[in-house]
Parts: sequence; C-alpha cells; structure tokens
Amino acid sequence: MLTDDKLEGRYQRIYNQLLSLLPKSFSSISQMATVTALLHHKMPHFFWTGFYMLHHDELTVGPYQGPLACQVLEKNKGVCWAAILQRSAVVVPDIHKFSGYIACDSRSNSEIVIPLFDENSQPWAVLDVDSRNYDAFSEIDKKWLEKIAGLIKPV
Ligand code: SME
Repeated sequence: MLTDDKLEGRYQRIYNQLLSLLPKSFSSISQMATVTALLHHKMPHFFWTGFYMLHHDELTVGPYQGPLACQVLEKNKGVCWAAILQRSAVVVPDIHKFSGYIACDSRSNSEIVIPLFDENSQPWAVLDVDSRNYDAFSEIDKKWLEKIAGLIKPV
C-alpha cells in the first residue's frame, strides 16, 4: 500500500492530468474510459475500476479495466445501487459483510462507489472500484475519487 503522502501526491498528479485530458472530448464515455485507464494503471490497490450508468432504471456497465464484470446490476441491490439510492459515496471495507453484495469476481474484498450527478443534482452513473485487499479505501481515496467523478457530466 502507498503511504498517505504518496497517495495524495499521486491523486493530485492524476487529477491535474485529467484536467487537461478530459476537455479534449465532449463524450462522457470517452472521458470515463480515460479516467478508468489512468486510475487503474496508477493505483496499485485497484483491482477493478469502472463505471455503471443508469439506463431504463437499470445500472449497466460502462468503460472499465480489470476482469470481466456483471453487465447489468439488479435494481436496488448491492453497493452501486446503495450509492445511487443514498446519493453519496459508499465505502465497504469487507464486502463479505455487506448484505446484498453483488459479486462479479470472487477475488474482490473491499469496494468504494461514488455517484455522479447531473446538472439537476440527479445521480446518473457511479464510479466503482474494487480491491483485492480488505479495507483498501481511505478518506483520501474517497475525497479524490469524488473530485474526479465530479469532472464527468452526461452528454
Ligand atoms: N459489487 C458491485 C457490483 C459491481 S462489481 O463490483 C464490478 C455491487 O455490489 O453493486
């Protein structure tokens, strides 16, 4: 695991890079793909990194990096739906203790999900990261992933 100082520094550099990369595209799918690739390859504790988008009342997988994931998440179940319903980030230190957890890969042990909001403050997607480590996500991860998720708007 990175020290807190190293983690802060790495997020700051990723964020700065995204500030210059994301305005090159007006497609939220392209922006999600860019965010996913950068985070996944720079963060050693990220095992699966990606987005789910709300379509017709379902959460459908978007751009991601990592092993094959569930394509559609059953409504009102699991961590991603919890973040949509609560309209706030959900950090799960041990996914085996989360009732209703949707397991896409048995190697994941902790998870963080950040909702994305549109201009009417409605959630329209989530950024989801899984780790093979238990308790992998700190307040530092939450703070920066929220800042990063806030850069992407639906188009
Ligand atoms: N575990 C998530 C499903 C998505 S995967 O982690 C990639 C959930 O419970 O919503």
